[in-house]
Amino acid sequence: MIRTTTYPTDDGQHVAVIWRIDTNCQTMVLSSNRGELPAVIYWKDRLPADEDLLALHDSTLRDINGGMLDQQSPLSVAPQRLDSFPGQPGLIVHNRDGKALMPRLRFVQAQLNDANDHLVITYNDPQLQMNFTCTITAAFSSNVIALHNELTTDAPVLVSWLAAPVLPAPSDSSHTLEFSGRWCGEFQINPVPWQPGARVRECLLGRTSHEHFPGLVVPTQGCNNAAGKAYGFHYGWSGGHKMITEVLPDGRRQVQFGQARDTDQLATTHVATAPLYVTYSNSGLNGIARAFQTYVRDEVIAPSGLKLPRPVHYNCWEAVYFNHDVAELQAIATEAAALGAERFVLDDGWFKGRNDDTTSLGDWEVDTAKYPDGLMPLISHVQSCGMGFGLWFEPEMVNQDSDLYRDHPDWLLGPTDQIKGRNQWVLDLANQTVRDYLYQRIAALLDAYPVEYIKWDHNRVLPFHNAEHTQGVYQLFDRLREAYPQVEIESCSSGGGRIDFGILARTQRVWLSDSNDALERTWMQNNAALFLPSEITGSHVGPRHCHTSGRHLPMALRAWVAASRHMGFEMDPKELDEQERSILVDAVTWYKENRDWLHRGTVQRLDLDDPAQIGEIQVAVDQQRFVAFITQMTASQQSLPQPVRLTGLAPDKRYCITLRNAAQAATLSRGPVALKDRSLTLSGALLMNQGINLPVAFPETLWVVEGHKDTNS
Ligand code: GLA
Repeated sequence: MIRTTTYPTDDGQHVAVIWRIDTNCQTMVLSSNRGELPAVIYWKDRLPADEDLLALHDSTLRDINGGMLDQQSPLSVAPQRLDSFPGQPGLIVHNRDGKALMPRLRFVQAQLNDANDHLVITYNDPQLQMNFTCTITAAFSSNVIALHNELTTDAPVLVSWLAAPVLPAPSDSSHTLEFSGRWCGEFQINPVPWQPGARVRECLLGRTSHEHFPGLVVPTQGCNNAAGKAYGFHYGWSGGHKMITEVLPDGRRQVQFGQARDTDQLATTHVATAPLYVTYSNSGLNGIARAFQTYVRDEVIAPSGLKLPRPVHYNCWEAVYFNHDVAELQAIATEAAALGAERFVLDDGWFKGRNDDTTSLGDWEVDTAKYPDGLMPLISHVQSCGMGFGLWFEPEMVNQDSDLYRDHPDWLLGPTDQIKGRNQWVLDLANQTVRDYLYQRIAALLDAYPVEYIKWDHNRVLPFHNAEHTQGVYQLFDRLREAYPQVEIESCSSGGGRIDFGILARTQRVWLSDSNDALERTWMQNNAALFLPSEITGSHVGPRHCHTSGRHLPMALRAWVAASRHMGFEMDPKELDEQERSILVDAVTWYKENRDWLHRGTVQRLDLDDPAQIGEIQVAVDQQRFVAFITQMTASQQSLPQPVRLTGLAPDKRYCITLRNAAQAATLSRGPVALKDRSLTLSGALLMNQGINLPVAFPETLWVVEGHKDTNS
């Protein structure tokens, strides 16, 4: 809900416009005085409906001290250089001759839609012939606000920085939580102290990247997963991006996100940022997790269509790599279906001459050496096993050793003497002809075969970041989605190199990481849950001997970690012994029985007192049931585990809780832990305040605690 109020100012000559945005758990207030760009003057808990917004505005006015300018320069949605803003400006623009332009933007109009949830505020500078708009969309129930800025000019200009609407950060926060990562280690969280001056994180890799996920959390003092106040930010763009966090000399703090921009770019008359998604939580980091998970589910993914229930995947990559043999794959498909798989994804290696990663990208035709009768013999077999069929592509790439490159050496992004990545170059998707070629090749395969799913890979960084390429990628996705709405797409980029809300508007699953190591995946899934709902987060049971970490982990851990997200497996099923098979089938059965409510619920992170454990709880939307996963990552320092406090439950409801895998208690467990042999019925309040005792656990094992609302409560 967005409301506009206009007040005359003291001198009676001018007006102050104040916009109040309310979502379920937050209020954001922006004010624009005397026609200046609006500034966020309040962003915290919901305010009473009758709050006097002019008084609120007046309460935010600050003093001026010696050595300061005579007036405080506004921290507006685009802090201006002309206002002597004492930090990084929100807009840096030059004319074609390189002369800095300092617009004096003045209010023109504000347009609020009938639903009162979408506001476009327009400013202009008539002298420089520049228009500036700030667009704000509020999603009430999920508690997320989406904002973007746009600049249009009559004469072409050079824009070296345009931030999405700039927001203040709270002073009662000692640090931010940034996200970094690497191949097989996505979504690492780094606490970064607030310090005087600007900190810049810039991703020039041309994709969202493993290294610089465009997200930020700003917890305030004392915030943990379950309680406290925190702010969440995510920039929804799949190309190069930049984040600035800054403490100004007067103590104010700002957060900026925007596209990475070339200084040698072409002059343009229009620049727009991607949406910046933000949320405020007064219920700890989990409030952010709930907001973003719900928003992705309801607003980002839903319009493009996500079919529930999410089928169990089988992916053949780590089973066969490039060694495709139809009979072998058919045998694997039979086994996979017997284990419970519902969709078979044929990974890399199926197209013309692709026997390793040095050739063939770009030649999207079935390899007749491996598939003399095309893909149909395999697909028919897969379907006869009751599974749907998915196919791997990496459309944006080309190998030097390919017909495509031989025919079109000019389709590359960048020069031919650039450093290759995984032996490949990137195609220039800003080029319509390239996009048409890729569309036609993919469409031909979708027309020829009953393909219900595409795993869309992207295995190297761009030679330089290039927004036009990313726009081209979006166009190709959109065209395919429009023509083949029933075909789902997974965003993979050497694992999680392209995960963001921009790509998620066009895809239905992300491959979080190439790591199938269940321990690594535990912390990655836990951290990524701040942004991603479970049903779109792919998670597979890999080979017993993990190919990316060298570890041997027990099947129970591998199976349950996969079952806790969108489940799949990708080992050669022949390697499974009887015990592993039965543990896996049990977890698959559980996944199928529970996915209905799991995939409409939320994943919340537990604050565990033992640093050797990581835990999460998944709670149904009606809070009637839950499952908690408590993973013993390493051996604990103390001899006994500490009680596990749950979160996200209804305090006054009584839950009957059971330890689903009590039989797996370590042989060393000798004490009378009640959950080892019976269920307990306890209130949500008790489960959240004091918690429950679990038996001792060996490292690399996990507890599955299930809870149902007691029918008598
Ligand atoms: C990437 C993906 C893997 C697999 C291979 C195939 O590494 O992340 O899952 O598809 O490419 O080459």
